[in-house]
Amino acid sequence: MADRLMRAVQYARHGGGAAALKHVEVPVPTPKKDEILLKFEAAALNPFDWKIQNGIRPFYPRKFPHIPGTDVAGEVVEVGQGVQKFKAGDKVVTVLNHATGGGLAEFVVASESKTVARPAEVSAAEAAGLPIAGLTAHQALTQTAGIKLDGTGKQANILITAASGGVGHYAVQLAKLGNTHVTATCGARNIEFVKSLGADEVLDYKTPDGAVLKSPSGKKYDAVIHCATGISWSTFEPNLSRNGKVIDLTPGPAAFLTFAIKKLTFSSKQLVPLLATPKGENLEYLVNLVKEGKLKTVIDSKHPLSKAEDGWAKSIDGHATGKIIVEI
Ligand SMILES: NC(=O)c1ccc[n+]([C@@H]2O[C@H](COP(=O)([O-])OP(=O)(O)OC[C@H]3O[C@@H](n4cnc5c(N)ncnc54)[C@H](OP(=O)(O)O)[C@@H]3O)[C@@H](O)[C@H]2O)c1
Repeated sequence: MADRLMRAVQYARHGGGAAALKHVEVPVPTPKKDEILLKFEAAALNPFDWKIQNGIRPFYPRKFPHIPGTDVAGEVVEVGQGVQKFKAGDKVVTVLNHATGGGLAEFVVASESKTVARPAEVSAAEAAGLPIAGLTAHQALTQTAGIKLDGTGKQANILITAASGGVGHYAVQLAKLGNTHVTATCGARNIEFVKSLGADEVLDYKTPDGAVLKSPSGKKYDAVIHCATGISWSTFEPNLSRNGKVIDLTPGPAAFLTFAIKKLTFSSKQLVPLLATPKGENLEYLVNLVKEGKLKTVIDSKHPLSKAEDGWAKSIDGHATGKIIVEI
């Protein structure tokens, strides 16, 4: 297919927001030995996509022009010589590398190890939502907070900030598979929605109690899955249990300073900056949860690939409820 052209969305320099996304025709990529070529069905957008566009120099993106997008569901059309798990016609979902991207295009090259089969019960849009947002929620809860999702661990009180967003809405559902009490924050319009995901108590982040993260039932948090931004350590600290930790998904300089101070002073309360490392086996676990009806992808909005910039603008706006999907 190498001599064929495909439609893709790309940008040529840092900055410019949704208006800088251009619709172009570029050659269909060729899969290497351990890669597969997918025909695009759906992709999900993440805030990191436009943060890379804003410029996380010097690493992202690796080069210009850049086709953004990492979370893609599609159908296998070609496989590299070393690929064992997949063949043409298989429905899959994959997570691409942020530095190279490639997701917002009619054909996408993905590594075999970061690609998993998508059962018929799981739609392309539902599967596409999972990679970055779902895997981040999964990693924060299981690896950093130590929650066992089979419910066997000891009871833990969890706070999830921005529970209505992409990461937060998966985090609430996953946390409730474990032995947890979940307090969540979101805007007033999403309180019933977040309760419906399983949260035990929900705070409107614009109220005084919400702003100070005070649990209505007086719980102290063993772990905070911090999906919002702009909340200081001094706000979290009085709400933490003796060994409580804040898992910060968007750590800035102040968070790294707090992280260092808490480590150096052997504080029992900790701040943990987290950058997710997506793994194929965990993606497979999440896809199976969706298949079994134990996890759902809530879709904020769907945008055709020909109007991907509308979804991009929506993500920059920061008020998504669930996942923003781009589909063919
Ligand atoms: N470290 C990592 O590996 C990693 C991975 C994925 C994501 N992230 C980061 O995690 C953050 C969340 O990502 P996301 O995909 O979930 O974002 P998102 O879907 O864009 O989140 C939007 C949601 O956040 C809510 N919200 C915003 N500020 C809030 C606040 N102060 N309190 C409560 N709710 C608030 C909004 O509610 P309203 O509309 O009511 O305001 C909206 O529903 C982003 O900064 C992202 O870059 C990091």
